[in-house]
Amino acid sequence: MTYRIQFVCLGNICRSPTAEGVMRGLVTQAGADIEVESAGTSGWHNGKLPDARSMAEAKRRGYDLSSQRSSQVSQADFDRFDLIIGMDHSNMANLRAIAPCGAKAEMKMLLDYLPEQPLREVPDPYYEDGFDQVFDLIEAACRAVLADVTAKE
Ligand code: 4NP
Repeated sequence: MTYRIQFVCLGNICRSPTAEGVMRGLVTQAGADIEVESAGTSGWHNGKLPDARSMAEAKRRGYDLSSQRSSQVSQADFDRFDLIIGMDHSNMANLRAIAPCGAKAEMKMLLDYLPEQPLREVPDPYYEDGFDQVFDLIEAACRAVLADVTAKE
């Protein structure tokens, strides 16, 4: 059965679209039966393309984010997805605040998949920059997510 993963950040224009694009690429390469989407907790950028800096970094690494549009996470997502992965503690708090009782989705923080990585949260690059470091973290963690999910199937 298809396994569904949603990546979540604040704006759904930097970190989670990058995770969606990378994970889709890895899933296609692996031929895994996994669907991948992303959303933001805020809805501030609904309908917008990913940030130009995220798209440029992704393009440099061979990933295309240009078909993605920002959307806001909804309560229905907790039953549509098997796994919802946030980027930082604030995302997780926002997700827990709207999660319906008895929701199907498991909730994880992305860098929990990289226990040896000293950073525990994916830094928000929107104001700080560092899109290349953020991409490295997300790519490494997505490889670990894929290994974990496929090992369970
Ligand atoms: P993201 O980054 O959560 O990785 O998409 C942000 C994008 C926009 C804003 C903050 C973070 N903002 O304040 O508009």
